[in-house]
Amino acid sequence: MSEIAQLIIGDKTYELPVIEGSEGEKAIDISKLRDQTGYVTLDIGYKNTGATQSAITFLDGELGILKYRGYPIEQLAAKSSFIEVAYLLIYGELPTEEQIKKFNYDLSHHTLVHEDMKKFFDGFPSKSHPMGQLSSLVSSLSAFYPESLKPNQTAEELNLSIIKVLAKMPTIVSWIYKKSLGHPYIYPQNKYDYVTNFLNMTFGQRTEVVEIDPVVVNAMNTLLILHADHEQNCSTSTVRIVGSSASNIYASVSAGISALWGPLHGGANQEVIEMLQKIQEDGGDTDKWIAKAKDKNDPFRLMGFGHRVYKNFDPRAKIIKKACDDILEKLGIDDEVLEIAKKLEEVALKDPYFIERKLYPNVDFYSGIIYRALGFPTDMFTVLFALGRLPGWIAQWKEMKVHKEPIGRPRQIYTGATNRDYVDIQDR
Ligand code: ACO
Repeated sequence: MSEIAQLIIGDKTYELPVIEGSEGEKAIDISKLRDQTGYVTLDIGYKNTGATQSAITFLDGELGILKYRGYPIEQLAAKSSFIEVAYLLIYGELPTEEQIKKFNYDLSHHTLVHEDMKKFFDGFPSKSHPMGQLSSLVSSLSAFYPESLKPNQTAEELNLSIIKVLAKMPTIVSWIYKKSLGHPYIYPQNKYDYVTNFLNMTFGQRTEVVEIDPVVVNAMNTLLILHADHEQNCSTSTVRIVGSSASNIYASVSAGISALWGPLHGGANQEVIEMLQKIQEDGGDTDKWIAKAKDKNDPFRLMGFGHRVYKNFDPRAKIIKKACDDILEKLGIDDEVLEIAKKLEEVALKDPYFIERKLYPNVDFYSGIIYRALGFPTDMFTVLFALGRLPGWIAQWKEMKVHKEPIGRPRQIYTGATNRDYVDIQDR
């Protein structure tokens, strides 16, 4: 028999259904609570609120488990490619050889962006942050593909919009980088796979080696796979909620990019490297910086530490730490900042402050060190996160549409002034 939760308010008892997920997660279904009782729930920051039922990504924060469509992240990171994982997330199954061939073909035939878009690149000041540019540029795709504005696209039309945003993102990202250098843009080439194409458009002119070095291509694939989805995080929830008003995919993804930008979310990867550099310039005294992170009167936080959901360890951080060691070794790079990161981690993991609060290194703690080794400037790190997260945002947006979810619209508990009479300005 399915479980029932009982809610007692005053002298009344209400029965609420209990929903159980495929991994045994349980939720009290309060969707009719206000109609039944007149009450709403209050959960600032949605720490205990399930916003949807999703079949895309499962994570267990206590056990440090992350799976996409049932496949453990460790297996996908070791064996799969980013584009195969993108297919898995968006379409629900690992592709057959034929399916992946078609997917790659479709993607490679939509990589170009409209030539008029170059004017937007030219309009940004050279020092403007790449995330602001990315958000605007992705949103502007809706102007070039107005058919995407139809709220009731057919399955084929919807799929074409998905292919377009996925295919054009690497071109946009690499051109933002080229523009920041003042270098000419490099056009996509159909002969390359998704990741190689991106690396070629980004570093193509600088060195042939980067373009063909499988170590770099593998590292990039791993990083993108690890970032590809993470269930209902801040940016993904943003994408779903924007899409729930029947906004087009470009506008929804653009909103996700803005949400990801913040230093408490994807922006942390840039902050981590900047923090490590600061500690290095300050003499490398990790104890001093740990003490600052613990001091409630000091706004400093140990960036790359802590997670809303992972309270034991972040499985992505484990994979990234190992990848980081491998890549630096293979590329023959000796990065002092890595030593500081390792020392910080070692000290923090033994410190009661971090142990009691279950604060562990998250995915961003080591990713920046790899991006740096690959040659990306610091302010591009969060853009790379967005490139990786894109299939997840698309899959979640699509799921929200297929499920015909209602417009997202939370309630509130009003705490402001009650009735007041308007006072003329001269009498205030
Ligand atoms: N350094 C020092 N103290 C911390 C840190 C940190 N990085 N993170 C949390 N704490 C402390 C808080 O001060 C708080 O202490 P208190 O209970 O004594 O008041 C306690 O740990 C709980 O922290 P909250 O902020 O309430 O936890 P929440 O779940 O809301 O936040 C978050 C999670 C935002 C990730 C937080 O840990 C943080 O700011 N970390 C640094 C930024 C970061 O790395 N973000 C990337 C997250 S991963 C991602 O988005 C891909």
